[in-house]
Amino acid sequence: MEKMQNKKIQTRKRFFSLEGIDGSGKTTQMDLLQKALEEKGFSCLRIREPGGSMISERIRELLLDSKFKGLMADKAELLLYNAARAQIIEECIKPALDSGKIVLADRFAWSTYAYQGFGRNLNKQMIFDLSVITCGEFLPELTIVLDIDVLKSRERMAKENKVPDRLESEALSFFERVRQGYLNVVEEFPQHAVLVNADQSQEKIHLELLTHVLNRLN
Ligand code: TYD
Repeated sequence: MEKMQNKKIQTRKRFFSLEGIDGSGKTTQMDLLQKALEEKGFSCLRIREPGGSMISERIRELLLDSKFKGLMADKAELLLYNAARAQIIEECIKPALDSGKIVLADRFAWSTYAYQGFGRNLNKQMIFDLSVITCGEFLPELTIVLDIDVLKSRERMAKENKVPDRLESEALSFFERVRQGYLNVVEEFPQHAVLVNADQSQEKIHLELLTHVLNRLN
């Protein structure tokens, strides 16, 4: 495994992201987390990536369109994810954090590291360096990775019965690599990333997530 150089990162407090392979149950957990925090009186901005602002949603359409399967160059994909992120940072994340809100991101920079770096096998150092250019200090103080076996995640997605987008229609081996990418993030950045087992009851997962977040808010 290639080790990264200069891997010090700057992060912002009150900024959290949830990560995991497709079918890991992120969206349900985001709903529960947001609700619990708001019930406790915290004001939250929730965003999803790619997307969350008009420009970033347009970029999302380009990225997920299955018409472009086999056509979009890996580096174009990498840069488009970063472009969408640069926009949402300026337009939404920065103002929200500056006004004291909590930001909850459904995916953020570690998605690029896992999907483009490990899934697509692009150079990890390049992705890391690009991420620093895109995000600067706007990286989450804590990323929670929902970890699940790839076959189980596929079963969950099959139950949803929706047409897979360009990324979701990748092979199992792609998602095995992405999962490894996330495990690698947790290993390399223990102060800023934790793993939660996504193969347990929703309630248990929720309580683990909430505890991790509340610990950082104290
Ligand atoms: P989305 O429908 O939002 O997936 P999910 O509900 O699982 O979050 O689609 C986003 C897709 O884009 C998903 O397959 C992961 C992929 N992705 C990357 O490959 N790189 C990235 O940097 C990000 C943010 C997402």
